[in-house]
Order: sequence, then structure tokens, then C-alpha cells
Amino acid sequence: MIQLPWANWNGTAMPLSEVRVSVLDRGFLFGDGIYEVLRVYGGRPFLLREHMVRLRRSLREIRIEADAERLEQRMLATLAESGVHSGMVYLQVTRGVAPRTHKFPNPPVRPNELLYIDAIDGDPYGDYREAGARLITAPDIRWGRCDIKSVNLLANCLASQAAADAGCLEALLIAADGTITEGSHTSIFAVQNGRILATPQGANILPGITRGLLVKLAARAGIEIEERLVKQGELAAIDEMFLTGTTSEVLPVTQVDGRPIGSGRPGPVTARLVATYNEFVRDWLAGRAE
Ligand code: PDD
Repeated sequence: MIQLPWANWNGTAMPLSEVRVSVLDRGFLFGDGIYEVLRVYGGRPFLLREHMVRLRRSLREIRIEADAERLEQRMLATLAESGVHSGMVYLQVTRGVAPRTHKFPNPPVRPNELLYIDAIDGDPYGDYREAGARLITAPDIRWGRCDIKSVNLLANCLASQAAADAGCLEALLIAADGTITEGSHTSIFAVQNGRILATPQGANILPGITRGLLVKLAARAGIEIEERLVKQGELAAIDEMFLTGTTSEVLPVTQVDGRPIGSGRPGPVTARLVATYNEFVRDWLAGRAE
């Protein structure tokens, strides 16, 4: 019987609730692992190729040798087994189980490979998409390699909880020099004079897969994008703000630290991008887009 979330643990299919892992797993002890989250529409993983490229890169950057091709096949088989039509995939690879020392086990041990599939019913962010999300700012105290999708997410969790404590959806992370980097688990964009402002790619942000798609869709829609850093002090001069992420898709931001962004209502450029995103998903489901 399939029970959601439906998992695959090192090649064995089982309910996620039955997966057991050693306390000596380096993911548990050190956060020594990487992950991916994919959206599933129509029973298929969305932007699969892009996610697998980023997964391979994360593995390479932290020197874990895992078979990404096998993981991909396993993911597709597990997804088919799960019967999930609309949902998400979580994929994680840790360096594996070894006596606790900071340096890598030598010889290397077998990485622990987890993946699970869960259903997403309707649009969990529907209300925010209509009314816009409220954010707080929080200092970006993360490490210097935020471009690696590491499971080491303590700073992100602290910022996300600070947002929840303030009754807000997300935290806008502010670097020491006052520039906005990204959200605790989302990419952030500003809009000024009809033009999108995006944080340039670099070691200080995750190369968001939804961000990548959005840049492509905006270009196709004839909306200009400038990659430049936006300072927290510029927020009063911003017309619109929105965030993107695999599960949140494209969401308008209408307030930061209790102050309205632009009119304080979801703006027209954001609305257009939400529509463009939905259209792209529809085309992809119909086999008209890659
Ligand atoms: N979060 N920035 C950070 C720090 C993130 O953790 C994420 C994703 C994003 C958006 O990336 P993408 O478009 O590839 O989802 C940006 C995932 C979904 C998570 O941690 O659950």
C-alpha cells in the first residue's frame, strides 16, 4: 500500500515514516549533505533537467560521489509508484555514516540517498497570491557558499522563524553591507519603473531554478531585467516586489517590516509574471514547452 509521503531510501521503496538513519550520518552530525526540491505537475517533475544540473553541481562542490543518473531514475520510478499528480519531490544526499571526525571518511563511505514524494493539493499560497505577502528583514548570517544547496540551513531556519514570530511569510536577508540577498527559502526580485531588479548570481545566493525560469519568461514577455544589488535603504523607492521558489512559485510581496512596498497592493508587473508562469506550466503540461 502506498502511503504518502512515499520514500525511497538507498534504493528501497517505503513510507517516509519508516525510514531510519544512523545518528552517525554526517548529515545529522555536520549538515554534510545537499538537497533539491522539485515541483510535480501532472505527475511529472517540473524543470527536471535544471534541478539535476544543480544537484550535480552541489555534489561536486562538496565532493560527494553519488550517481546522479541513478538517483534521477529512482526519482522517476518512485514518483510513478506514488501516483502523485500534483506535489513535490525532496531529494537528499549526505556523505554517509562514519565515526565522527570533521575530515571526510577515508576510504569514502556510501552516501545516504533519500528521496520522497508528497502531494500538494490546490494552491497552498493562493491567499498570498491574491493579497500579497508580508515580510520582515533579518541579517544574512549564512556562510560564504550559499550557491551550494546544502542541508546546513540553521541560519535560514532562524530567519524563517523570526518571520513566523512576526506573523510574516518570509524573511528578507540583508547582508552586512545593507544589500538584499534573498529570502530564507526563496529568491527575491524588485520592480522599479517597469523593470525587474534581480540579485546577481554569486556565492551569496542560491541559483534558484524558479528564478532562472522567471528571467527567461520575463525576457520573452519583453520585460527588462537588470541584475544589480538592491539596498535595504532603497525599499521606499521600489514599486513592486515578488519572490519565487519551487513551492511558492511567483508570489507578490506587499509589505516589508510593516511598511508598504509601492502601493501596498500586488503590482501589475508581478501579476503579469504570475500569469506568465501559469501559462508556461500549462504549455509544459500540454507538451508545448520544455
Ligand atoms: N528553497 N533561495 C534559497 C535560500 C532557497 O532555499 C530556495 C529554495 C530558493 C528558491 O530556489 P528554487 O526556485 O530552486 O526553489 C532560493 C527550497 C524550495 C527549500 O528549501 O524548501
